[in-house]
Amino acid sequence: MIRLQNIEKVYRTDTIETLALNSISLDVEKGEFLSIMGPSGCGKSTLLNIMGLLDAPSKGDVRIDDQTTQHLSDKQLANFRNQKLGFIFQSYHLINDLQVLDNVELPLLYRNTTAKQRKLLASEALAKVGLTNRIKHFPTQLSGGQRQRVAIARAIVGRPEIILADEPTGNLDSAMGNEIMEILMQLNKEDGTTIVMVTHDENMANKTHRLVRLFDGAQVQ
Ligand SMILES: Nc1ncnc2c1ncn2[C@@H]1O[C@H](COP(=O)(O)OP(=O)(O)O)[C@@H](O)[C@H]1O
Ligand SMILES: [Mg+2]
Repeated sequence: MIRLQNIEKVYRTDTIETLALNSISLDVEKGEFLSIMGPSGCGKSTLLNIMGLLDAPSKGDVRIDDQTTQHLSDKQLANFRNQKLGFIFQSYHLINDLQVLDNVELPLLYRNTTAKQRKLLASEALAKVGLTNRIKHFPTQLSGGQRQRVAIARAIVGRPEIILADEPTGNLDSAMGNEIMEILMQLNKEDGTTIVMVTHDENMANKTHRLVRLFDGAQVQ
C-alpha cells in the first residue's frame, strides 16, 4: 500500500544541515496497522509527512497503491491526498469557529458532493466515533478526547484507504487515549483501513500489528 525506498530527508538552513531521515526503506501492507516509535527529534513526523505526501523527500521514492508520486504537481498531490489519505494530529487541528458537523464536512468540499450528501456522510462519520449528540457544538466546547474523535471523523469522512496519525493520543489521559485507540482498531479491523501511527506509548504500540523504531533518522527495528 505504501512503499518507501531509500528515503533521505535533509533540512537546510543558512548555517545548519539536519539529516532527518537516513536511507529508510519500508513497506506498509494493505490492511496493516503499523506503529512508529522513537525519541523526540528522531524523524517520526518527518517520515509520516513524507508517507502522506505533505512533504517531499530529498532522495528516494514514495509509492502509494503502486503509483510513484515524485512527478505529481502540487494540485495532483492535493487531489491524491484528498482521495486516499486521512490525517490525524496530536493537537486535533480543528477549526474552532466551525461547528463539529462543518469541520467534518471540510474534506468533502474539494470533491463533487452535494450539500445534502456532505451532511449525510459527515453525520455517518460522527456516528462511527460516537459523537452524534455533539454535531452542533464548537470544538472549544468539547473535551480533548471528543475533539480527537471529531478529527477522526474528519479523517474518515472521505473513506480513505490509509490513515496517518501523528501521536493521536499524545494530549490525552489514558482513558481517553484508550477510547481513541479502540476507534482506530475498529476502523482497521472492520473497514480494512491501513493505519500508520506515531506514538510514545508502548501499550498503544503493542496493540498494533507491527512496530518500527527510529533512532536519529534511521530504522533500528
Ligand atoms: N522544518 C524543519 N526545518 C529544519 N529542521 C527540521 C524541520 N522539521 C524537523 N526538523 C528536524 O528534523 C529532525 C526530525 O524532526 P521530527 O520529524 O519532527 O522528529 P519527531 O517527530 O521524531 O520528534 C529534528 O532534528 C528536527 O529538529
Ligand atoms: Mg513529531
